[in-house]
Amino acid sequence: MAEVVVVDSKAAAGALIADEIAELIRRQPDVVLGLATGSTPTPVYEALPSRLQGVDVSRVRGFALDEYVGLDPQHPETYRNVITREVVEPLGLNPELIHTPNGDPASIEHAGDDYEAAILAAGGVELQILGIGTGGHIGFNEPGSSFASQTRVKTLTAQTRSDNARFFDSIDDVPMHCVTQGLGTILRARHLVLLAFGEGKADAVAGAVEGPITSSLPGSAIQLHPHATVVVDEAAASKL
Ligand code: GLP
Repeated sequence: MAEVVVVDSKAAAGALIADEIAELIRRQPDVVLGLATGSTPTPVYEALPSRLQGVDVSRVRGFALDEYVGLDPQHPETYRNVITREVVEPLGLNPELIHTPNGDPASIEHAGDDYEAAILAAGGVELQILGIGTGGHIGFNEPGSSFASQTRVKTLTAQTRSDNARFFDSIDDVPMHCVTQGLGTILRARHLVLLAFGEGKADAVAGAVEGPITSSLPGSAIQLHPHATVVVDEAAASKL
């Protein structure tokens, strides 16, 4: 059963998790963090710089959950560029130690296996930050994803493409495919921290935390994890 923490605001959630991450980095300067994109983790990333003043972050390692397939590498919305802008640069991390799956169509066949091998070689993820999609997806593991799934290419659902269209000029620019860590990959991280804010996430949160464990709601996989923390505001907690 996941531990649920209800907070007053996104900023409070950000402060709580940023404190934990800063402590991890102080204890273990080469810690492996699991990074997520989307709007949800932003308060954590925003709270981190003030907590990391004077802390050596040069050896921090990181793996993002997912990447779009086929976006121009210069496009501001590749998850590589999002992570660079929101995490690597503000925190002063070494970009070479921060990984995102390879979304280049030319190497897509090996992208999943290569990423799994890199996570394994790093010794696994210590703390994995997660958001949740309105349909209950984590990473880009859409409903129907196997709980044993590993990093692989997936097709985005119409719902996810429409949810994410706000980051693009038009929905037609949202890629059709992605490379995402699997649910099996995510479950190997040693601590899962799932964040969710707003009423729109209330159903997904209730399903993930206390609904049946089912691949129709991929977030429910967190119930199988021995150390999962769910940090939500009142609105996202309203259906618990
Ligand atoms: C995307 C990401 C997920 C994220 C989800 C929710 O699909 N791949 O990792 O959890 O969106 O996005 P947001 O946090 O913006 O609500």
